Amino acid sequence: MVTWMVGSALAVAVYIVTYYSLLKGTSCRSDTSLKGKTAIVTGGNTGLGKVTALDLARRGARVILACRSKERAEPAVFDIRKRSNSNQVIFMHLNLACLKSVRTFAETFLKSEPRLHLLINNAGTGSNGQTADGFNLAWGVNHLGHFLLTNLLLDRLKQCAPSRIVVVSSVAYCLGKVDFNHLNAPGENSISAIWNYSISKLCNILFARELANRLEGTNVTSYSVHPGFVNTEIFRDFSVFFKFLLFPIALLFSKTPSDGAQTIIYCAVQEGIEKFSGRYFVDCKVRKVFPHARDDGMARKLWDVSERMAGLCNH
Ligand SMILES: NC(=O)c1ccc[n+]([C@@H]2O[C@H](COP(=O)([O-])OP(=O)(O)OC[C@H]3O[C@@H](n4cnc5c(N)ncnc54)[C@H](OP(=O)(O)O)[C@@H]3O)[C@@H](O)[C@H]2O)c1
Repeated sequence: MVTWMVGSALAVAVYIVTYYSLLKGTSCRSDTSLKGKTAIVTGGNTGLGKVTALDLARRGARVILACRSKERAEPAVFDIRKRSNSNQVIFMHLNLACLKSVRTFAETFLKSEPRLHLLINNAGTGSNGQTADGFNLAWGVNHLGHFLLTNLLLDRLKQCAPSRIVVVSSVAYCLGKVDFNHLNAPGENSISAIWNYSISKLCNILFARELANRLEGTNVTSYSVHPGFVNTEIFRDFSVFFKFLLFPIALLFSKTPSDGAQTIIYCAVQEGIEKFSGRYFVDCKVRKVFPHARDDGMARKLWDVSERMAGLCNH
C-alpha cells in the first residue's frame, strides 16, 4: 500500500514537472498597447482564436471576429466585450469554405473599416468534406480561403503599415508534402483528414514565407506559428473511435487555449521581431523548419497555383 502511494505521488510529481517545463510553453510578456489599431481574427469565436481576440481587445485594439456562424460568434463577441471591458469587438460574417464569401467579407470590411494593422489567419479545420468551390476542406479553408483573404486585404495592410499577418500553422506540417498534381485529394477517413490537414499546414508556412519575400520593404511582415497541442474543438468531426483514442492524450498532454495562444499573440504584438518576417515560431521563439518547408521555389509555385485556384489572375 505504502509503495503504491509513494509510486503514485512520484508519478504525479513527474507529470507536473514535465507539464510545466515542457508542455505548458512560454508566455508572451510584451505589454504593447494596441490603442487605435484594428485587427481581424478569423475563427475568433472559439479555441485559440477567441483567446487571441480577447488579448488583442484587452490591449485596446478594435477586433473583428471573422466567423462563419453568427450563432456561435455573437456569444463570443458578448463574452470578449465583457471580459476586455471594450465595445470595440464586432462580428463580421466570413465562410472560408466559400471563395465568394471571402470576397464579400473583404468588400464589406474595406468599405466599413478604414484601418487594418493585424490579420490573424487562425481559423482551421481538420475535417473531411468539400468547400463550396469543390476543394477539400483543409486545403480550401486552412490555405486557399486565407490566401485569397490576405491578398484582398493587402493594400489596406500596406496603407496602415507597420502591420502584420500571423498565419496559424501546425507542427503537422512535418508530415505534409505538396504534390501539385494531387492538391485536392478527397478525404474519406480520419487518416486522409490528417494527411490533408498536414499538407494545408505546410502550405501555411510556405505562404507566410513567400508573403514575407513579396512584402519586403513595405513594413508589412508575416509569421507562421505552431501553437502546440491544444485542447480545442479542432478535431470535432473525427470518428468516435479516434476521439476515444485521443481523449486521454489530450487530457494529460494538451495545453489550454490560453497557453496555446501565446505564440500567436507574441507574433502579433512583440516589438523587434520584424527581422524574422517569413519565419516559423514555436513557444515565442523562431524555430527552424525542415527543408521542405523552406523551399522558396515551392513557395513561389504554391503562390502561382493558389492565385489561379482563388481566381486572382487569368494565367
Ligand atoms: N488545437 C491544436 O492542438 C492545434 C495545433 C496546431 C495548430 N492548430 C491550429 O490552430 C488554429 C485554431 O484552431 P483551434 O485549435 O482553436 O480549433 P477550433 O477550436 O476548432 O477553432 C477553429 C475555428 O475555425 C473556424 N472555422 C472552421 N471552418 C471555418 C470556415 N469554413 N470559415 C470560417 N471559420 C471556420 C471555427 O468556426 P466554428 O466554431 O463555427 O466551427 C472555429 O472558430 C487552426 O488553424 C488549427 O489548425 C491547432
